This record gives sequence, C-alpha cells and structure tokens, in this order.
Amino acid sequence: MPSRKKNSPTQTSPRTPRTSPRKSPRTSTGTLTILSISIALISAVVYFLNSHLERFYIFSTSELHDLSLRAISTHGNDTAAVVTFIAGELSEKLPGGYVNLDQEWIFNNAGGAMGAMYILHASVTEYLIIFGTAVGTEGHSGRHTADDYFHILKGTQLAYTPGSFEPEVYPQGSVHHLERGTVKQYKMDEACFALEYARGWIPPMLFFGFADVSAVHLMCRRCGGRLGLRANK
Ligand SMILES: *[C@@H]1O[C@H](CO)[C@@H](O)[C@H](O)[C@H]1NC(C)=O
Repeated sequence: MPSRKKNSPTQTSPRTPRTSPRKSPRTSTGTLTILSISIALISAVVYFLNSHLERFYIFSTSELHDLSLRAISTHGNDTAAVVTFIAGELSEKLPGGYVNLDQEWIFNNAGGAMGAMYILHASVTEYLIIFGTAVGTEGHSGRHTADDYFHILKGTQLAYTPGSFEPEVYPQGSVHHLERGTVKQYKMDEACFALEYARGWIPPMLFFGFADVSAVHLMCRRCGGRLGLRANK
C-alpha cells in the first residue's frame, strides 16, 4: 500500500507537466500551419487542373450529338434500340472498359425531379448517362461545377431561367446545354429520354445530382473502373 502511493506520484508528476501545457499550443499552431499549407497546395493543384481539364476528357460534345442523331435516324422512337446503338458504338470507339454495357437502370431523385438512369461512364471529370422518364418529371437543375449537355433521344424537354417568360423548348435530336454555374427549372411533360453528358468537376455534383445512396454508390463504382480499378464489367 505505501509503496504504491509513493510510486504513483513520482511516475505521473514528471509526465503531466510536459504533456499538457507545452504540447497543446504547439499542436494547434502546427495544425494551422499544415492546414494553410495544404489549402494553398490544393488551391494551386485545382487551379492548374482547372486550366488543363480539356486533356482529361475522353468524349467530344460534337461526336455525342452526331451519334445521338444517327441513333435516332436509325431506330426512331424505339428508344431501347437507340440506347443500345449509342452504348455499342461508344464501346467500340473506346475499348478497354471505359463504356459500361451492362444496363443497370436505377431511379435517381434530384432537385425534386425523379427519373431513371443508366450510367455509361463516370470519372472525376466526366460522366455519361442515359437519363429519362416514361411518365414525365419536373424539377430544379441544380447549380453545377460542370457543363451539362442533354441530348434529347425521345420526347421534349422544357426549361427556363428565372426572369424568362417563355420556355426554352428542346425536342428530339436537340441538345440542351446547361452551362456550368447556371440554374434552370426543367420539365418533361411526357416520356422523355436523353443522353446526358457532363464535363468539369463531377464529385461536387454527386451531392446534388445523385442524392440517392444507390446512385452515388454506382457512380463511384463506375468511377473506380475509370481509375483502373475496373468495375464488375
Ligand atoms: C417520335 O414520336 C413523336 C411523337 O409521336 C414524333 O413526333 C416523332 O417524329 C417521332 N420521331 C421519330 C424519329 O420517328
């Protein structure tokens, strides 16, 4: 009993003054320094990548529009065939697992609009999906860190920006370009499907666009495929 009492203060006393008063201010300034250096480095990297984003893109907007038009002229309103045609040709042009041919359709809820989607490709800088609805939908576009190109394969999409009194009308075969940073309300009165291509910074879009856990999961799996991890198929 007495030996324990003697031991415990001698063991603890030299340790406690060293750790508590000295270390805590050092670690907080150290953390701040590391944090500010990290922020500066990340900003520099983001700035550099932002000006070189073009290099990372594997799809071209003019080719996707041309492909959509050829798919429609070949298969008309047989949208299932249009989709298969598009996926098939892209997969031939970009071999090596870049294009997902496994049509895993899932629901996606974003900005109050509900639709179904099939992910053709996803990476940090691009995604390509077929998005649409068989019954119509309406919602908020979201304000995104990427340019969005909506190639209408079937039906018509309407949209407007606040302050406009007339709708923008996007019929079959047209492209609705939602510029990076702009917001719109959009609507598909009836069945409408599109080849949706986004290019820019994709990860921030996932918070809005793919609020569904399953959709984010699927996007990330596809994204992993792009980064060399390769998805199931
Ligand atoms: C698809 O159907 C719509 C509505 O019936 C029609 O206006 C359009 O011309 C059709 N498109 C093609 C490519 O057949």
